Amino acid sequence: MYQYIRPLLFCLPPRWAHAGAIRAAQYIQSEHTGSRFIREHVKERYEFSHPSLRTYLAGIQLDNPIGLAAGFDKNGRMIDTFHDLGFGFTEIGSVTAELVRSTSEYFRLPQDRALINRARLRNEGAFFVKENSLLRTLGYPIGLNVAATPGKTEQNAMDDMMYTIHLFDHHYRYITLNVSCPNTTDGKTFEEPAVLDDLLAEVQKMRLNVPVFVKVSPDVENDQLERIVEKGGKYHVGYIISNTTKEWISDEQQKRLGLKTSARKLGRIGKDGGGLSGLPLQQLAEEKLKFVYRLTQGNVPLIGVGGIIDAESAYRRIKAGATAIQILTMLIYQGPGAAKMLKEGIVELMQRDGVHSINEIVGIDAR
Ligand SMILES: Cc1cc2nc3c(=O)[nH]c(=O)nc-3n(C[C@H](O)[C@H](O)[C@H](O)COP(=O)(O)O)c2cc1C
Repeated sequence: MYQYIRPLLFCLPPRWAHAGAIRAAQYIQSEHTGSRFIREHVKERYEFSHPSLRTYLAGIQLDNPIGLAAGFDKNGRMIDTFHDLGFGFTEIGSVTAELVRSTSEYFRLPQDRALINRARLRNEGAFFVKENSLLRTLGYPIGLNVAATPGKTEQNAMDDMMYTIHLFDHHYRYITLNVSCPNTTDGKTFEEPAVLDDLLAEVQKMRLNVPVFVKVSPDVENDQLERIVEKGGKYHVGYIISNTTKEWISDEQQKRLGLKTSARKLGRIGKDGGGLSGLPLQQLAEEKLKFVYRLTQGNVPLIGVGGIIDAESAYRRIKAGATAIQILTMLIYQGPGAAKMLKEGIVELMQRDGVHSINEIVGIDAR
């Protein structure tokens, strides 16, 4: 069905299409008689569960390992819908302490099954998101992705993140620290190991009863990643690997990523930067995940994200070390059936390989 609707949706500016999806989800989640009927239909259509997909992510029980990545449901308005669509967990945010009004821009690169976004942490701010999101429904595990409100000094940026975590109290099952976008006024990110250490020390003081994940950029060099993981080891955090890549602007980078979109179009978009997601990110995100799996010898929970576009790439990501995976760009190209398609495909691949549970294959390609 989505293959027929997609050409129409792709005629709309991406921001409108996204706003339309939020509206539709809000209607379906509401208590109208008509919406209840649609909701039942949606659940039935996208239902697929299998015992071999059940797993634990940092102690959190998941019905299946497919999650929605941060950025699609920033304000937590579609939580029930993604549950109905068969996702095993979802991550809202990034949420910042203050409202961020900056304009967000998205560009589709259909030839590459990719997106470029300049979402710039636009969100409604911690208080508003907490009051108006569907977090309280908690039908399945929800992660809260926290970032610093742009334009803060280092200490203020940290306080900002602590405020958000504190405000949300127990309304989430895990926390993600989005340390991979510019976090402070001087353009620093919390990926600088010494700064990350300070941030994690602050989080530790809060004595949270939930797992903490650090979300890293795929553009971090391996030696820096090694130091990040060394710092993270002190605080027993997990990692989400990875965010979008910023390194797609030069001709050389475009060649390395194998981009098929015309240089002219990329040049037009690229003058204001942005993060690239989707298929061209696949190999890089998988390599970084394997690297961290090896570093941590499989003892740390890892979520794999970036360029997962089908069951094969999802299956490979689990074998590269991910206990769970997340998608975002695939959802835009594949539509609401994305999670079901991945689950069915992964089960088929496991049956082909004589595997009885995804837990048997986590990291087997990274050892
Ligand atoms: C439009 C858009 C907005 C995003 N916003 C956020 C965000 O607010 N916080 C975050 O941690 N990651 C954000 N991301 C990154 C995604 O969560 C994910 O890491 C990245 O898109 C790679 O996955 P994909 O190839 O499946 O899209 C965003 C990505 C896109 C495309």
